[in-house]
Amino acid sequence: MINTITGMKIDIHRKKFVLANKTGGMSGPAIKPIAVRMVYQTAQAVKIPIIGMGGIGSAEDAVEFLLAGASAVAVGAMNFVNPYSTIEVVEGIEAYMEQYGIEKVTDLIGAVEA
Ligand SMILES: Cc1cc2nc3c(=O)[nH]c(=O)nc-3n(C[C@H](O)[C@H](O)[C@H](O)COP(=O)(O)O)c2cc1C
Repeated sequence: MINTITGMKIDIHRKKFVLANKTGGMSGPAIKPIAVRMVYQTAQAVKIPIIGMGGIGSAEDAVEFLLAGASAVAVGAMNFVNPYSTIEVVEGIEAYMEQYGIEKVTDLIGAVEA
């Protein structure tokens, strides 16, 4: 989780919907706060593994999802912006763990403090 958030775009000059289907899925950084909140609330409600995604483009983004309760993370839209983003996320999580002396990535899962 999460999938895209449904959006709409209207061409004000033609007074027409930009998308043939009227609505379309929004992905990328704009939906990240919504995704982190939903991962957190779901992790609080049920004890099942969650793959977190929605706007992840950096290690900092990915760590947010892990702290919120995701067991794994995925990168979608940001691959189109930076094809190296997934590698940068992996390497950046390792750097974050070294910085804070964290031995196992599983120690990050749900570790956000109130
Ligand atoms: C080009 C593109 C195609 C997608 N296709 C699917 C799909 O076929 N099925 C699906 O459940 N989600 C699909 N998604 C949603 C992604 O799996 C993901 O949940 C969403 O884009 C949020 O993550 P992101 O911001 O990292 O892209 C697609 C997203 C993009 C950008």
